Amino acid sequence: MAKMWAGRTDGVTEKIADDFNSSIHFDSRMYRQDITGSIIHAAMLSKQGIISEADADALTKGLEAILADLESGTLQIDMSCEDIHMFVEQVLTERIGDTGKKLHTARSRNDQVALDIRIYLREKTDEIVALLKELVSEITDKADTYKDTILPGYTHLQRAQPITFGHHLMAYAMMLLRDIERFKDCRKRMNLSPIGCCALAGTTYNTDRRFEAERLGFDGICLNSLDGVSDRDFCAEFMSAVAILMMHLSRFSEEIILWSSWEFKFVELSDAYTTGSSIMPQKKNPDMAELVRGKTGRVYGDLLALLTTLKGLPLAYNKDMQEDKESVFDSCDTVIMCLKVFTGMIKTLKANTENMKRAAQKGFINATDLADYLVKKGMPFRSAYKISGSIVAYCIEKDKVLEELPLEVYKEYSPLFENDLYNEIDLMVCVEKRVSEGGTSVDSVKAQINYVKEILKK
Ligand code: ARG
Repeated sequence: MAKMWAGRTDGVTEKIADDFNSSIHFDSRMYRQDITGSIIHAAMLSKQGIISEADADALTKGLEAILADLESGTLQIDMSCEDIHMFVEQVLTERIGDTGKKLHTARSRNDQVALDIRIYLREKTDEIVALLKELVSEITDKADTYKDTILPGYTHLQRAQPITFGHHLMAYAMMLLRDIERFKDCRKRMNLSPIGCCALAGTTYNTDRRFEAERLGFDGICLNSLDGVSDRDFCAEFMSAVAILMMHLSRFSEEIILWSSWEFKFVELSDAYTTGSSIMPQKKNPDMAELVRGKTGRVYGDLLALLTTLKGLPLAYNKDMQEDKESVFDSCDTVIMCLKVFTGMIKTLKANTENMKRAAQKGFINATDLADYLVKKGMPFRSAYKISGSIVAYCIEKDKVLEELPLEVYKEYSPLFENDLYNEIDLMVCVEKRVSEGGTSVDSVKAQINYVKEILKK
């Protein structure tokens, strides 16, 4: 069949060229956004007297019926069409006759596709923000449960200072709150309407772009018609936000993978979020966390693919831009799935508090507190640091921990040591002393939890 755009050419193309050119197998997911945009376009055309009210009425009814039939499954998308925009217009014209051909007045597929992606991504952004809020809420609840559970805090993956598991979890809550902000911020720039930019230069018809924008829930319009049809920076920005969010989930996943290993045994994942091995009967693998970590690479790839596609394109529309959709849709689908799985995994995760504590006891993570003890008794920090280091070395040699050394031994290192040192190096005391804002003390973690809960309520 000859193409809708047959005119200059006879519109007859090779099948392989059609297959290569077509985008319907991935842009068909935007059918609802496309039809919604068209209904408002018809309304604008009639309001401005560009088409008659009767025509607008026929277009609207025809489009609404197509939407209903697609949703109910009575109408199947014809995958031999070039794209979703052509499909909708073709079915409309088949159903209502020549009036259907008036829909594309004062419009081009260039502004139409830009409109559809903006509406689609705006919805996905809202969905992601809602999922993120759910995840942050689960993390915060977990943090509340474990706000006084001692855990060794690490730097360089070496045990460093005692913290609580609640404090550690709240670090991720804070990161994800920023992710929420990033998505909301990106939505602001995304939410400007390109419809009416037409092919590139605007139109000679007396259109009302602001009417269309307002009816479609946009905050305003793209103020330069070339920009409106040319740029996909809102996709790149969205995918950057996805990439950063996935980076956070990936780090969290990495910790969950480590923590659930036999070497750490800090957490126990629910059976519902693990898998077994087909050969090794003893295995309980953290596949969900590993997949989130793995899929992070994939969304980085999506972002890079889009940026690379765009970097050499002259204004305005180029067919290369059809390549934007697969990567942006892949990022959407991937991050949404990851968020859903991750939330379930966190919700059902249990901490092995005894093992966390045991690991905290063995790592000399109270050595800083031992040095601080001497400082508080008048010794300069550097000297206190050196003495504490020597005591740690002694403990390692004797296979002991700081809490077990008798006072006589301490006295050999400094006469400033008294019996009260044991309280100062008690792990829970070490945690509770870290009262600086944002620190690991139970009260500070409670304050962090309250802060996040307040933000989530908004
Ligand atoms: N399927 C095309 C895309 O996704 C729609 C825009 C086509 N515009 C054009 N001038 N060929 O980019």
